[in-house]
Amino acid sequence: MLQFSLREMAKFLSVFSVRNLLVLSLALNVSLVLRVLVSHDSQNGSFNGFFIEKQNGPQEEAHASKGARLSSSVSSSSSSPLTTAQGDQDRVINLDHGDPTMYENYWQKKGDETTIVIPGWQFMSYFSDPRSLCWFLEPEFAKQVVRLHKVVGNAVTENRHIVVGTGSTQIFQAALYALSPRTEAEPISVVSAAPYYSSYPLITDCLKSGLYKWAGDARSFSKNGPYIELVTSPNNPDGFVRHSVVNRSEGILIHDLAYYWPQYTPISSPANYDLMLFTVSKSTGHAGMRIGWALVKDEDVAKRMTKYIELNTIGVSKDSQLRAATILKVISNSCERSDGEGDSFFEFSYHLMAKRWKQLREAVHQSGLFSVPDFPPQFCNFLNRVFEPQPAFAWVKCEGEIEDCESFLRGKKILTRGGKHFGVSPKYVRISMLDRDKNYDTFVERMSMIQS
Ligand SMILES: Cc1ncc(COP(=O)(O)O)c(C=O)c1O
Repeated sequence: MLQFSLREMAKFLSVFSVRNLLVLSLALNVSLVLRVLVSHDSQNGSFNGFFIEKQNGPQEEAHASKGARLSSSVSSSSSSPLTTAQGDQDRVINLDHGDPTMYENYWQKKGDETTIVIPGWQFMSYFSDPRSLCWFLEPEFAKQVVRLHKVVGNAVTENRHIVVGTGSTQIFQAALYALSPRTEAEPISVVSAAPYYSSYPLITDCLKSGLYKWAGDARSFSKNGPYIELVTSPNNPDGFVRHSVVNRSEGILIHDLAYYWPQYTPISSPANYDLMLFTVSKSTGHAGMRIGWALVKDEDVAKRMTKYIELNTIGVSKDSQLRAATILKVISNSCERSDGEGDSFFEFSYHLMAKRWKQLREAVHQSGLFSVPDFPPQFCNFLNRVFEPQPAFAWVKCEGEIEDCESFLRGKKILTRGGKHFGVSPKYVRISMLDRDKNYDTFVERMSMIQS
């Protein structure tokens, strides 16, 4: 242990002038004040990237909008002291982004069936299967992807390459990279029919790529030459089944099938497109795992997508892939042994979505100020019944005089995403149907009471 005598201490201090000591004390005080501010702000959530506010333009899927910044922690926490103190009437309900927390109840009931333990020495290498086209794809994850598609019957997996990504968001970028021609002088146009998923334009243009460029609504796209059309089916935000709209010979299609699962829409046949995107975020509710996958027909396209992910993140978390594999396996098991007792994941989520859509339609009817789309019923081969689509988002229109539905609902402390983010009129808003029960119930109750 170090021991200072008083004489040594005096000698040490004599090195500093009074000015030095003043500066030192000022620096210590400033750092103390900063510490207090930082810890205060992080308690309020504003040091969490999830709440970072953007000043201009639409927000990405997981980024809260301006109004949402203040309130996300309130609406997403079921035990917030603020909630209890203010009561449900004053609580801000944030349904701006599609965070799939509604699924927590199911997975909680599954208990240890989905628990995985990964010892510190395992899965350390970058590589999963060096001989495979997608060398960072975990074989067990690939196996469970194929199995689940077979069980549900929602996509053809034969003669397809699987490319795994950090969410379907990364896979989407890999697809743009892989499909863009290298020989053109100009970037290829990327289009999607409005209302389109609000993140497409943001992701497409975020790096101002020389390979591809957002070109807006596919319905008004008239430029000659090659283009990429994004077909989201069922569509985010409006839930309708979609097909390509441009239909020209030089078109390249990406089918985003994030919502082609039986809790949202009848499964009429296995999707059989050249490039199909899926994600655990909306199928199982595990958005935080950040796992998506593509089923790709063309080997060269799959190779280029793999290359992009290699350049972008040198692969995809093995821990997440293994966790996702377990979740998919438990779902397939639950479907195969389903005895009508409600154990099947898709039975559970189908019934929950049906209940929520019924509640919403009643609330909309009672209020008289809003409308929601009607969907034609169809037979679902997987659930073996006829039903109307019950999308993950409600595409709500403010009827009558209200021109800005997002602002109108913000005034009622309901945070939504307005039509302009999706390339259409501000009379529309998108509302997440996937929040926790408590928030959803408060939301429909409040909607039903809104009068002009
Ligand atoms: C149509 C569509 N594609 C992709 C995504 C993003 O999925 P991920 O969380 O896997 O990046 C979303 C998320 O809302 C979506 O709605």
